[in-house]
Amino acid sequence: MKGVILAGGSGTRLRPLTGTLSKQVLPVYDKPMIYYPLSVLMLAGICDIQIISGKDHLEMFRSLLGDGDRIGLDISYAEQAEPRGIAEAFLIGKEHIGRDQVALILGDNVFHGPGFSSVLTASAARLDGCELFGYPVKDAQRYGVAEIDDGGQVLSIEEKPRHPRSNLAVTGLYLYDNDVVEIARTLRPSARGELEITDVNKVYLEQGRARLTELGRGFAWLDMGTHDSLLQAGQYVQLLEQRQGERIACIEEIALRMGFISAEQCYELGLELRASSYGDYLIDVATREASAVTLT
Ligand code: TTP
Repeated sequence: MKGVILAGGSGTRLRPLTGTLSKQVLPVYDKPMIYYPLSVLMLAGICDIQIISGKDHLEMFRSLLGDGDRIGLDISYAEQAEPRGIAEAFLIGKEHIGRDQVALILGDNVFHGPGFSSVLTASAARLDGCELFGYPVKDAQRYGVAEIDDGGQVLSIEEKPRHPRSNLAVTGLYLYDNDVVEIARTLRPSARGELEITDVNKVYLEQGRARLTELGRGFAWLDMGTHDSLLQAGQYVQLLEQRQGERIACIEEIALRMGFISAEQCYELGLELRASSYGDYLIDVATREASAVTLT
């Protein structure tokens, strides 16, 4: 399965923070925002990832993550000339996706919760059409909302409904089979001039091939589109990291856990960042992993 991170957009609600910087490189406590969606794709076992962003911002991502080789990934970059909608990712990413399935994640979404890696791999394994992820919210009117049956089959999807049929918001993580490229090609821009991801999902729904996994209690799904939500996400990460002593979305650690890099490589990456507590953490994680390997 290929991965795509959509990290463009205008970031108008975050101005003036986004005056020169991409929203997705802004700090979320101890790391740039894009580490969070990147870590989700890695936890799903995906190594071949394309980052899509505006022309002015692609260089920022390139200098941050390079070709991904240092953490065992293959990262490529592609331009979205204008924010013409989430579903445009499949047209821009057509060659990268090739004949594979694809996981698309929005660059400003944080997912965190127990067993997430298993949830992702189980969804990917049974993928036949599309797999969405729903999160119960208080203010469903603000989101794409899905109604599902007991088996997780999607019964309806509505964009920002006035009277939502459920409290399940469709989150910014989507798994699709390869048909998505052709489906995206047939879309027409909506009234707001965008190729809508909800329209893609509705095609799968009509085919009876849309499923949704509910991310329940104990799970966090946050987006970081406003000043308040950006700060809240940072505070959430700070609270958990300081309390538990483990980092969220530490891409080097995830690369180690997923077997993309060795403990030695992780240690080297830690040394490079040694002046920071993040670097010390990597050294610690790598050292513990190396001694566990030696002991077994
Ligand atoms: P939004 O939050 O809908 O838009 P935005 O990031 O441009 O912010 P604002 O509304 O404040 O202007 O986008 C959600 C995510 O999807 C975000 O990470 C940007 C990304 N995105 C694109 O990369 N291209 C697009 O065409 C759209 C619509 C969104």
